[in-house]
Amino acid sequence: MKRSSVPVAATGLGGLVGSRVRAGTAGEVDWLPLQVDIREPDATLTRVAATPADVVVNFAAFTDVSAAYAQRGREDGPCFRTNVLGARHLARACARAGKHLVHISTDYVFAGDRAGVYTEDEPGDATEDWYGFTKRLAEDEIRARCDGAAIVRIAAPFSALPGVKEEVVGAVLRQLGERTLPPMFVDRVFTPTCIEDLAALLVAVIRGRVAGTFHAVTTQPLSPYDFAVLIADAYGRDAGRVRRGELADYLSRGGRPYPRRLALANAATGDRLGVSLRDVPTCLAAMRATAMTGTAACRG
Ligand SMILES: NC(=O)c1ccc[n+]([C@@H]2O[C@H](COP(=O)([O-])OP(=O)(O)OC[C@H]3O[C@@H](n4cnc5c(N)ncnc54)[C@H](OP(=O)(O)O)[C@@H]3O)[C@@H](O)[C@H]2O)c1
Repeated sequence: MKRSSVPVAATGLGGLVGSRVRAGTAGEVDWLPLQVDIREPDATLTRVAATPADVVVNFAAFTDVSAAYAQRGREDGPCFRTNVLGARHLARACARAGKHLVHISTDYVFAGDRAGVYTEDEPGDATEDWYGFTKRLAEDEIRARCDGAAIVRIAAPFSALPGVKEEVVGAVLRQLGERTLPPMFVDRVFTPTCIEDLAALLVAVIRGRVAGTFHAVTTQPLSPYDFAVLIADAYGRDAGRVRRGELADYLSRGGRPYPRRLALANAATGDRLGVSLRDVPTCLAAMRATAMTGTAACRG
């Protein structure tokens, strides 16, 4: 029997992730844009109280990592005000109105300075990267103010779903075609997010009104270089055009700091929510099939 769709209010539906999650949850979620600047406490209280939805998803954030770094130390800057104060205002508003808050977070809440994987129950420890630091404080705001909230960490989101802005796979394919792909780091690891899997995970969190911290990421950590090679292979491009670069070289030339090892575990997330989080090759193969047939990505 077909399930009825759930009304959900959301900020940031016009962004890279929100627009694709919206496309990927059609028929499951009836998205109601929450039209508010979350830096404004009173307006946020009023808008959250007024929405007919029982669930609020926060996709809104200041996401330009380099611009954020240029604001480091400035609590009056737009990055801190959107990411930290905005999260505080939403958490307070949802707690008061009795709404289930689902907050989108990032692997950058971690410093990325140690070997091994970060598990769902670990609090963030980022200090150097200002975007990551503010997103870490956002998580703290939500845990402190809004019992029952869900925090969903994602990383380098990629997708075949339609949406605004260019996601990672499209960017790599375009740059390979134009021969403008910069050298890709071999000495960094991450666990990118397949937005099709994130969409399914969010449906589970929303329908179950689930609380806790979750990692909506693929299953095997890899380097940006390996990711680009897998993308080239999956789409039948010449993987030999992917050049190797080193984060260590970039940093020695004065580049902005990057977290080096951001491998997120997802086993507890999959078990708790009963969703499957696939590996990168499987996700890319599904995306490629979508591109070939022109049909929506189909999750098994
Ligand atoms: N993209 C990534 O690589 C990545 C990786 C890890 C985690 N994330 C997380 O995923 C979430 C979504 O990111 P995204 O890539 O979709 O970001 P995005 O493309 O930059 O979109 C951000 C959205 O937030 C809205 N917004 C910004 N400031 C706001 C404010 N003060 N009040 C209300 N809305 C505001 C923007 O609206 P306007 O366009 O009108 O300003 C836009 O719709 C964020 O929490 C981000 O930290 C993203």
